Amino acid sequence: MEDKTLKTLIDKTIAFAGNAYAPYSKFSVGTAILLDNNQIVTGNNQENASYPSGLCAERVAVFHAGAKFPGVTIKSIAISASSSKHEVEAPAAPCGNCRQSIMEYEQKQKTPITLLLRSEKGPIYKCNSVADILPLAFNNSFLGDS
Ligand code: THU
Repeated sequence: MEDKTLKTLIDKTIAFAGNAYAPYSKFSVGTAILLDNNQIVTGNNQENASYPSGLCAERVAVFHAGAKFPGVTIKSIAISASSSKHEVEAPAAPCGNCRQSIMEYEQKQKTPITLLLRSEKGPIYKCNSVADILPLAFNNSFLGDS
């Protein structure tokens, strides 16, 4: 992926983290997904007074992409996080539930999804595939469906 595309994607995550609804954690996450049709789909975390009812930015974005552009390959997901309580120094790694959800799409489309992880400062981490950060993943083969 060329640098300009990468920068565009990262810049979108910063803008969208600003729109997160995170009154409880004060931890704002923004996500931008680049699709094979060159559309960009964004997301951010949405919290709830009943804490488990909220949803992470990554799943808001992948479900948004799946709903709006069903069957279109996801090329890349950029994620960035910031907090009004402290400086987020480490690149924002998706939680286990989000890795599982992204994995479903990677498996379905049969091509890897690149992850770009950004903190408020420091390096941007790049993972070539979500499978690299979710070893021994559970998938539909266990259900006898594939
Ligand atoms: N969060 C995300 O949006 N993505 C992650 O991968 C980890 C956590 C959100 C959920 C919650 O709104 C806040 O960050 C604190 O956990």
